[in-house]
Amino acid sequence: MNNTPTRLLIHGASGRMGQALLRLAAEDSLLQVVAAVVRKPPAQRVVDGIPHFAASELAGVPAFDVAIDFSLPEGFDPVLALCAERGAGFVSGTTGISERQQAALTAAATRIPLVWATNFSLGVAVLAELVERAALALRDGIATSSSPIMYTRRMRRPVPR
Ligand SMILES: NC(=O)c1ccc[n+]([C@@H]2O[C@H](COP(=O)([O-])OP(=O)(O)OC[C@H]3O[C@@H](n4cnc5c(N)ncnc54)[C@H](OP(=O)(O)O)[C@@H]3O)[C@@H](O)[C@H]2O)c1
Repeated sequence: MNNTPTRLLIHGASGRMGQALLRLAAEDSLLQVVAAVVRKPPAQRVVDGIPHFAASELAGVPAFDVAIDFSLPEGFDPVLALCAERGAGFVSGTTGISERQQAALTAAATRIPLVWATNFSLGVAVLAELVERAALALRDGIATSSSPIMYTRRMRRPVPR
């Protein structure tokens, strides 16, 4: 088994999600945050051993394996471009990205591993999958085929007293 930690860049590190990611990564020996990126130049350059960078300094961040981006649409393009340029993985939960940005994601997906989702909640993902399956199953109208027969039989069955 490979015990080499995965090197992470956390983009949007000062935000609610970014802070949660930093906390979780610190608890996992197989993860190493090598860069935390925020919008403006950070007040402290190194926090808990993690180098911090401004968005404008993105090109100078050290080597990383995967960038995790929970920022704003304004910050989305440079971090996606950096991952594509360096051949790194890209995970993003940033919402509100434009059609142009979604097209850039699709193009980048041919070159780097990436995942973008507007909701990373497991429950929501399962619910969306179930709704999709139900929509497919009901597409041709179950009610027009088997349902009326079942209904008729039930109606004829004597009601127990
Ligand atoms: N997919 C999901 O399941 C999920 C769940 C929760 C949130 N989200 C989305 O994730 C994003 C972050 O949410 P949040 O609640 O953590 O927001 P937040 O607390 O407002 O944090 C935003 C972060 O983005 C940084 N940022 C803003 N503009 C930037 C830019 N131009 N370049 C680089 N970094 C920039 C901010 O840095 P500064 O502090 O320097 O401004 C901050 O670190 C939002 O798009 C939100 O909708 C998605």
